[in-house]
Amino acid sequence: MEFAKVVRKRRMVRRYDADRPVPPEIVEKLLRHATHAPSAGFSQGWAFLVLQTPQERELFWTSTAGKRKQLRSWLDNMRTAPLIIVALSNKSAYLERYAEPDKGWSDRDEARWPVPYWDIDTGMASLLMLLTAVDEGLGACFFGIMPEQIDEFKTAFGVPAAYTPVGAVSVGYSQDDDLRTSARRGRRPLDEVVHYGHWKSPDTLS
Ligand SMILES: Cc1cc2nc3c(=O)[nH]c(=O)nc-3n(C[C@H](O)[C@H](O)[C@H](O)COP(=O)(O)O)c2cc1C
Repeated sequence: MEFAKVVRKRRMVRRYDADRPVPPEIVEKLLRHATHAPSAGFSQGWAFLVLQTPQERELFWTSTAGKRKQLRSWLDNMRTAPLIIVALSNKSAYLERYAEPDKGWSDRDEARWPVPYWDIDTGMASLLMLLTAVDEGLGACFFGIMPEQIDEFKTAFGVPAAYTPVGAVSVGYSQDDDLRTSARRGRRPLDEVVHYGHWKSPDTLS
């Protein structure tokens, strides 16, 4: 698919054809593309937990549901996804990479980092999976795991302490025709979010 079309077509899909698994070659492509994301210092401090069997997926939903149990229709719809890929970041991989001689931050001081690049890079990898799904004729949704559920999720899947789930990407053939409340807010126009050369003063904003 043409790249601009992939970008424009991508919307979060929250209901899937439960009887249509994602072909293994597409699962592989999603993961390969994810690892082509940029990363600070080429640290690549990310990991991807791939959940495909009904048992693995059920454990994911039960360990992460928490307060989302109250969002029954959201959960019921999301549960139709035949594939879930959890994207995790590893902060210590970045601190170690930047302590190497070519970077020289041997104190591993987190105050040196303007923003948590470990999470940002994992987010970029997730976006590549979202776009790859569209390019392959599938739908996907990136969603967060609530903070109070993270320990339960990590224990359920034996995730090492150093890794933090940045988000999960559900993937499958779309059966979603609904535009959620948040998407109905509409896209902010360019002239509201872009500042050429100098920040616009508030009185120049209409
Ligand atoms: C960091 C992040 C977290 C999100 N968390 C959730 C979530 O927990 N549940 C959900 O249904 N959608 C989630 N979304 C999807 C957004 O609601 C969605 O991207 C937004 O409404 C715009 O719609 P679109 O992506 O379909 O264009 C998340 C998106 C991002 C980028």
